[in-house]
Amino acid sequence: MLSVNNVRVHYGMAEALRGVSLEVAKGEIVAMIGRNGAGKTTLLKAITGLVKLREGDIIYQGERITGMQAHAIMRLGIGHVPQGRQVFGDQTVEDNLILGAFTKIKQQPRQVRDWLEREYTRFPRLKERSKQLAGTLSGGEQQMLALSRALMSDPEMLVLDEPSMGLSPLFVKQILDTVIQLRKEGKTILLVEQLAAAALSISDRAYVLSSGQIEMSGTASDLLHDEKVVRTYLGA
Ligand SMILES: Nc1ncnc2c1ncn2[C@@H]1O[C@H](COP(=O)(O)OP(=O)(O)OP(=O)(O)O)[C@@H](O)[C@H]1O
Ligand SMILES: [Mg+2]
Repeated sequence: MLSVNNVRVHYGMAEALRGVSLEVAKGEIVAMIGRNGAGKTTLLKAITGLVKLREGDIIYQGERITGMQAHAIMRLGIGHVPQGRQVFGDQTVEDNLILGAFTKIKQQPRQVRDWLEREYTRFPRLKERSKQLAGTLSGGEQQMLALSRALMSDPEMLVLDEPSMGLSPLFVKQILDTVIQLRKEGKTILLVEQLAAAALSISDRAYVLSSGQIEMSGTASDLLHDEKVVRTYLGA
């Protein structure tokens, strides 16, 4: 479904991605783990058109999306939940959700209403707070909103950047359960997480990114039992 081939990204002189290749098949949950500064966010931004590649290619469902604008990539079916949520704090919950559907609202206004109801069913807390300003939501509620907002473009694939960051264990569990549910709904997921054990426990396969390069890859259960992964990322 998604194929990333030898991608390089520079910020000025600094090389953030140094020839990264990976594959995500339809219906998979693939985890990407790695330390702070490894390049995880940059990789997701490369996929969703938010940073320019210096080299390499990204293919989504047979189409070369390298160099396309972010909204065009979103329209093709990739939803992005950015690191740090980035909800529009001075807009209501409902307006944030509707903005998430901006690529679809002209052609499919009715579906947008249905998707809004679907998200309110998924997260009743958002429905209760539909008229509340997003900036006044708790951190966990903002994460729900960021996830729902990405789902409002009805994506086939979701890339999630540290959805557990700063959340209490109960919210972390709710977000991970939602990821499992989304896969059941047929979505394909690339999940960046610092909580490596939690991410691996719900994933099919995983990649370890280190200093802008893929250091390791394998099935999630292989990596969960790999001595180096345990020592470096699982804090055993
Ligand atoms: N806009 C930018 N300008 C310059 N350097 C950047 C920029 N964004 C990221 N970097 C650098 O690129 C490297 C990779 O950053 P990135 O945010 O992709 O890492 P990360 O793995 O997501 O880290 P974290 O776990 O802390 O979120 C870091 O050294 C970072 O300082
Ligand atoms: Mg990051």
